[in-house]
Amino acid sequence: MSIHIGAKPGEIAETVLMPGDPLRAKWAAETFLEKPKLVNEVRGMLGFTGTWRGNSVTIHGSGMGMPSLSIYANELIKDYGAQTLIRIGSTGAMQSHIKLRDVILAMTASTLSTPSKGLFKEINFAPCADWALLKNAAMVAENRDVATHVGGIYSSDVFYDERPDLNEQMTRHGILAVEMEAAELYTLAARYGRRALAVLTVSDHLLTGDALPSEDRQSSFGDMVEIALEAAFA
Ligand code: ADE
Repeated sequence: MSIHIGAKPGEIAETVLMPGDPLRAKWAAETFLEKPKLVNEVRGMLGFTGTWRGNSVTIHGSGMGMPSLSIYANELIKDYGAQTLIRIGSTGAMQSHIKLRDVILAMTASTLSTPSKGLFKEINFAPCADWALLKNAAMVAENRDVATHVGGIYSSDVFYDERPDLNEQMTRHGILAVEMEAAELYTLAARYGRRALAVLTVSDHLLTGDALPSEDRQSSFGDMVEIALEAAFA
């Protein structure tokens, strides 16, 4: 057990998929894994371990925002030995050529700050994805009928943004989309020599104001889970 994860030693797989929402973790584990077993429910943050094509996989919620993800990713890495961590989640598009339901593979994650910012002081550390995972995911996505974009994203500290000018600068500099977790995941993976990637589905569009109805979110989410699993074991 770690402070926030109740799994016993050996109950967390080396490959961990991390949706923000614990109920998405439950749905993804029950939909895609064989024999999913609940391994954590501390504070309602559900984690399940099962197998996918014979490979052991854990699907564990991260919660929303970098401080929450940081707690779970730190413990998964340091207390349970997770080696490959893939965020699966939703994102808001920031470019006009990107549409709702498209998949984004985050090559880099720009930020205003992360929970790790204090470590870097005046350095602007550039959190980036693991190249092999990114390459695998791009190839897997290309073979599926899913519009996919690879590039930089923005990991924001806020969903309700009082600084629209920051989003404008991100759009102007080619950032594809905004979410709230990837930069800290990439930073922790770099620190501990692990592999990380964020595979995201566009749930809303900052330029048009469009958003996916909630009943559509689950089906789009499925593509993302399969891309993440295939990329992890390619
Ligand atoms: N995740 C999904 N949509 C988002 C948005 N518009 N801002 C921040 N995180 C998001």
